[in-house]
Amino acid sequence: MEILKSKKTLEDYVERQKEMGKRIGFAPTMGALHKGHLSLYEAARKENDLVISSIFVNPTQFNNSLDLEKYPRNIQKDLDFLQNSGWVDAVYIPEVTDLYPEKTESKPYQFDGLENEMEGAARPGHFDGVGTVVETLFRQVKPNNAYFGEKDFQQLAIIRNLAAQLKLPVKIHGVEIYREENGLAMSSRNERLSPPEREAAKIIYETLQKVNSWFRVITIPEIQKRVSDIFANEPGMTMEYFKIADEETLKETDFFYKDRNYRAFIVVNVSDVRLIDNLHLD
Ligand code: PAF
Repeated sequence: MEILKSKKTLEDYVERQKEMGKRIGFAPTMGALHKGHLSLYEAARKENDLVISSIFVNPTQFNNSLDLEKYPRNIQKDLDFLQNSGWVDAVYIPEVTDLYPEKTESKPYQFDGLENEMEGAARPGHFDGVGTVVETLFRQVKPNNAYFGEKDFQQLAIIRNLAAQLKLPVKIHGVEIYREENGLAMSSRNERLSPPEREAAKIIYETLQKVNSWFRVITIPEIQKRVSDIFANEPGMTMEYFKIADEETLKETDFFYKDRNYRAFIVVNVSDVRLIDNLHLD
């Protein structure tokens, strides 16, 4: 596996590969790699000649400096993980100045209002940071295809919107949420839960499954109430939000219209660990 530690080495590598006519699949990450990332690489492997990943903890997408500080970083562990996976041909580990040559700040974007919903409302400026780093990475890596997890469904929608509005020649793919055995959505944050908390957190996915069984059976206010009641009775857990939203606009709905697709979104804090999950309703 090639380890590309600067923009220059990345660009030379990409140029050589493009000259050989290789199709590039790209999965950007912030490190702390786990099995969920493997499913991105696996999808990329199937559809491309070459898989590139990146590891960069992007400062501009954190609206809380403590969160940025606490973000787990262990490059050697990540490199061993990638090496052992055998899925990845090259990993780009840029310096801050490779992605932010002048100021480490984000550009302002508009994503047709997608940026104002859910995580955008909870974390002001977050999606400008994501947009800035992903646009720069796309321009440097020049992938044919790029892969993002559906766990961050809003991020995925925003990146699709970014690629379309800037006419970037990359196809964006969403990859289904990889779940732990008990159903908890895989996340680097799960490591911060104690074993009993990690087991108890399975209630998040169980609740989403219940919501799916109530879909178009009872009213949305009734679903909201049942979900709030579930978490009100869970010691050590606080539900930050639960919303049922249109899958395309991400706007919360209070009624299920025919011919629209809906998804349930939830954020639950288990002690101080913020867990997010979502499920397509059918
Ligand atoms: O999902 C992530 O890990 C990050 O938001 C991303 C897409 C790598 C941008 O920093």
